[in-house]
Amino acid sequence: MEKYREAVAQWLAPVLNMPEAEVLALLRLPPDSSLGDYALPCFALARTWRRPPQQIAAELATRLALRPPFAAVVAHGPYLNITLDDAVLSREVLETILAAAEHYGEGREGQGKKVLIDYSSPNIAKELAFHHIRSTMIGHALKQILRARGYTVEGINHLGDWGTPFGLLIAAYKRFGWDAAAEVEPIVQLNALYVRATEEAARDPAFAEEGRRWFQRLEAGDAEARRCWQWFVEVSLAEFQKVYDLLGVSFEHILGESFYEPYIAETLEWLQAKGLVKESDGACIVDLSAYDMPPFMLKKQDGTTLYSTRDLAALLYRKRVMGFDCCLYVVDMGQSLHFRQLFKVLELAGCDWVRDCHHVPFGLVLMKDPDSGRWVKGSTRKGRVSLLKAVLEEAIAMAREKIAASNPTLANPDAVARQVGVGAVVFNDLKNRRIKDVKFDKEAILNPYGETGPYMQYTHARCASVLAAAPVTPGEGVDYALLREPEERALVRKLAAYPEAVASAAREWEPAIVAQHLLAIAADFNSYWTRGTKDARVRILREQDPATTAARVTLTAAVRTVLRNGLRLLGVPAPDEM
Ligand code: ARG
Repeated sequence: MEKYREAVAQWLAPVLNMPEAEVLALLRLPPDSSLGDYALPCFALARTWRRPPQQIAAELATRLALRPPFAAVVAHGPYLNITLDDAVLSREVLETILAAAEHYGEGREGQGKKVLIDYSSPNIAKELAFHHIRSTMIGHALKQILRARGYTVEGINHLGDWGTPFGLLIAAYKRFGWDAAAEVEPIVQLNALYVRATEEAARDPAFAEEGRRWFQRLEAGDAEARRCWQWFVEVSLAEFQKVYDLLGVSFEHILGESFYEPYIAETLEWLQAKGLVKESDGACIVDLSAYDMPPFMLKKQDGTTLYSTRDLAALLYRKRVMGFDCCLYVVDMGQSLHFRQLFKVLELAGCDWVRDCHHVPFGLVLMKDPDSGRWVKGSTRKGRVSLLKAVLEEAIAMAREKIAASNPTLANPDAVARQVGVGAVVFNDLKNRRIKDVKFDKEAILNPYGETGPYMQYTHARCASVLAAAPVTPGEGVDYALLREPEERALVRKLAAYPEAVASAAREWEPAIVAQHLLAIAADFNSYWTRGTKDARVRILREQDPATTAARVTLTAAVRTVLRNGLRLLGVPAPDEM
């Protein structure tokens, strides 16, 4: 719709005797869309025109000569309301969508710019917990959205594969061994070993010391330590990959924290040379007290490095070797301080490019507590932390049951159940602003009448079924003036605004902007055909003359294209039948 806003400004500017940009800044949306598409509040003109705003609006309404794409210009109190011509708008918008097809929504403002996105980034030796859905899917959606707007994007999975916990894990492995005959998946055993290692270390200082020694050996490149660790990494990655496959997520780089070990020494020397490194109780730090932040840790007393040290080396590597115009970290908001510190250290070191690095935070996943009925943060102790794989599998199984009940003759029910189950979980994760906590209720996310993934998928599938039965080809011989029902007018405008929704989502790193736009389109489309009939096909294909059918089929094709494109950006599959 931006194009039409500009056209309004162009049209008004000479009459108002003002530069176009100023007119553009004045334009508003009328509070009620039946009043028009744009409103010019005339208050700001009152001083120069030396007349009350009502009079100015009335005068402008008579002085402006209508021309396409404008259909009406009317004074409404102190406002001048402008309405676009429905037929012109529908033709332009729907023809554009049909021609662009899967590319509708794309833009070029990112061309020539490279963005790195750090997302998912789980720790190894543990299974993916349900909350990992957040970073994984927000990051994936941002990658798709930024690509759609022309950016070159590379995803980085920054695995947590280094640090003292892995020394402990090796110690536990050496002490308790491995049950190769056990009938459980290796990741489950590894996870159990991890838990046991942590417990043992808390109980037995000698064991904790053993763990530290193993980590030192690991850092020193000791072959035996390396072999154990390598195997932990492989087992974990194989498990992660299963979940990523289910979600349709992939990465351009899978680089664990360990990858940056060889760069640590030079990073520290470099900081040292800048005079930023201080000793404090035998540890190495960067003092950030002048910025009201705790010290940034570089080395512990025992000389080992930390998460923070490796993030510093990793970011320098990203800048120097991978190169970027913008580097995003999709990490929960609990790590805000860590990123503020990291960026501050680089700023102090004179890296002005650090202003292109951003933490993209998000809220928690909340589960319903069966006892109190309240929404609470998952906790391992109460057994409320679910595994991501298990949640996805359960959603798929539930979707499969619903399909068996509602559509027993569906071809490929298992494949569709996968798309619906996964789509339900993913859409629930992305539909609200990322900073908000996500409420997870397995019944609610699958409800096809709620604001859910299945609701979006149903709407899309309904469009597909109308189109499959349509007697005409969308876009052929259409009289666009026939699209004049309120929902049709509203839909055309929302479809026109879709590319801007994608652009805003890219600018704000906010997939929810796309999700909310799609929800609004789905709501209009559904209320459109349910008004007067319970069957979309009757409303669109049979209740009127062939010319109206042709126009409505064309609108349906455009709705379908936009829903499908938008869902793809979000990582939500869109089956044609369900
Ligand atoms: N592995 C970390 C965690 O599980 C997240 C890493 C995020 N990325 C980063 N470069 N720090 O908390």
